[in-house]
Amino acid sequence: MTGEYDWRIKEARKSLNRILPEVEKTFAADLEQAPHEWHKFKNRLYREWERLFTYLHQLYGWQYDFFYTIERILRSMVQYWLERPAELKSLDEKREAEPFWYLSEKMVGGVLYVDLFSDNLAKLDDHISYFKKLGLTYLHLMPLFAIPKGENDGGYAVSDYRAINPDIGTMEDLARLAAAMRQEGISLALDFVFNHTSDEHLWAQKAKSGDPDFIAYYYTYPDRELPDQFQKYLRDIFPTVRKGSFTWCQDLNRWVWTTFNSFQWDLNYANSEVFRAMAEEMLFLANQGVEVLRLDAVAFIWKRLGTDCENQPEAHTILRAFNAIAKIVAPCLLLKSEAIVHPDEVIRYLHPDECQLSYNPLLMALLWEALATREVKFLEYAMRNRYRTPAGCTWINYIRCHDDIGWTFDDQDARNLGIDPAGHRNFLNKFYTGDYPGSFARGVPFQFNGETGDVRISGTFSSLAGLEEAIEKQDAELIERAVRRINLLRSVQVSIGGIPLLYIGDEWGIINDYTYLSDPTKANDSRWVHRSRKKWEAREDLTDQNALEWRFFHEMVKLLTLRKKLIAFQNGGMEVIHTGNPHLFGYIRAFNDQYILIVNNFAEEPQRMDAAHLNACGVKGDVINLLNGDVLSSGNDLVLNDHQSVWLDISQP
Ligand code: GLC
Repeated sequence: MTGEYDWRIKEARKSLNRILPEVEKTFAADLEQAPHEWHKFKNRLYREWERLFTYLHQLYGWQYDFFYTIERILRSMVQYWLERPAELKSLDEKREAEPFWYLSEKMVGGVLYVDLFSDNLAKLDDHISYFKKLGLTYLHLMPLFAIPKGENDGGYAVSDYRAINPDIGTMEDLARLAAAMRQEGISLALDFVFNHTSDEHLWAQKAKSGDPDFIAYYYTYPDRELPDQFQKYLRDIFPTVRKGSFTWCQDLNRWVWTTFNSFQWDLNYANSEVFRAMAEEMLFLANQGVEVLRLDAVAFIWKRLGTDCENQPEAHTILRAFNAIAKIVAPCLLLKSEAIVHPDEVIRYLHPDECQLSYNPLLMALLWEALATREVKFLEYAMRNRYRTPAGCTWINYIRCHDDIGWTFDDQDARNLGIDPAGHRNFLNKFYTGDYPGSFARGVPFQFNGETGDVRISGTFSSLAGLEEAIEKQDAELIERAVRRINLLRSVQVSIGGIPLLYIGDEWGIINDYTYLSDPTKANDSRWVHRSRKKWEAREDLTDQNALEWRFFHEMVKLLTLRKKLIAFQNGGMEVIHTGNPHLFGYIRAFNDQYILIVNNFAEEPQRMDAAHLNACGVKGDVINLLNGDVLSSGNDLVLNDHQSVWLDISQP
């Protein structure tokens, strides 16, 4: 193994020393203009090259044109670096000087659909002050690229990564917006939909017209022989829409691999040209001012016969190669993994050489689980054992997003706690679709699979937490209860280690919108129930302090403002504590000399954490609950109201 590694390092250097002078010749005129800058680029190149070469060699070294491949990739890197605007190059330097800036307690993310929020990119500019008021430091715009008319999977069927959907604006609008947000300390995040293109993408069109170079961009098959062999191990992602992962294309006269919808063609990363082309798309987006790329559907990017074709080792190698390229050309770019898979696999995408950030679907799912069961044993167990992240990496904590909720917990974890995993998923699905005695939730089933009985849940934060039902019943007490549930989950989201990501609209308590049912392009996808148009103009200047919207918004701002003042919330480290009470979920956040103990009550009644357990957590003397200023006197038990959360400052003077 060591021998092989040494061999690669030697070859890496030799190859670079051969290729670089040729590349320098090509770009000589430009490089002479900026010798100092070029020197810095080369420093990064020499720093990262050995690993980039190694990854590419692992992926494509067996192909006879490997040397040509790496030369092409290096040329692309230099070209996109030359095109990179000066302002972004100075941001690169700033970030390199402070490489872990995103681990700060100041980080708060938001995510929205441009068309549903402000109609278009130009108008989004006017809302920057709103994002600041809310406290955002990064904003993720849902896919806004050119897409097929009609069905396009909410923008995830991309026809051109370099063109914005004309209804929303232009690439110039996007770059302008990115610059304006940057000025205000808000980083732009976009999706990198790199597992598949739409069947209208130019590459797909060229493939359809018979161009063999582009047919090789996708996985296509003349007959069912291989598809049938692969299919045995694959799961259906959207089973109510279609069965199987292959689509017959008449123009091609071949079967095409389509993991998601039939109009989303999976890219073939076994072809080095696909890797190079997508690396260029990544750098193009980085050059528009994108600082965070959400890597969509990362788990699916490598196929291997006889496996479920998810989370293959090569998927990680590809991400690492993208990461190395970004570190050389656009070092301020962060990669965020979207792997909604088994928790053992989710964590594997988090690595400083791979994705620095990752969605935390386990926390999300288990918060909802604890809200339904009123008990925290599963949440506590999973967070105790599965929360730790590699240094330099952190979780993105969300309660709701544009997608459904799947119960992606580990079955063995459940069994260890005496929970039957299948029965529990069944219970949660019933509970969150309101089909369980005492349920408060108004979720909508998503993708019921008749063969496996599997189903996932759609619905807004507020509707799932009981607000929709309470409003409908016009029951003031139920409304208060729902508000408390919502505030509880938010408190955990904001205080537990990582970056909170708000699904914009939730800060106003938006409930389900069923109008999607009358749109034939959306009716069969219940996720649209929580993707509704927002009436922002009406709400931004809301002054009625009793209005629910006002209360939600101000609670959110309060939590985020407090978060940003607490150095203990830096870095993402978190230790789950023993509260001695099955309804209380507690943990300590610590950094430098600051220690904050957070305790959350998931029960519908008041609960107590006794003095002995508090003492074991280091609670000494009187301590303050930072959320409301209450003092817990020395030696007393801590009593929490139903769904109350406390943030106790237990630092020793
Ligand atoms: C991701 C997106 C989801 C989309 C899928 C296919 O999971 O979050 O909305 O349907 O990828 O691109």
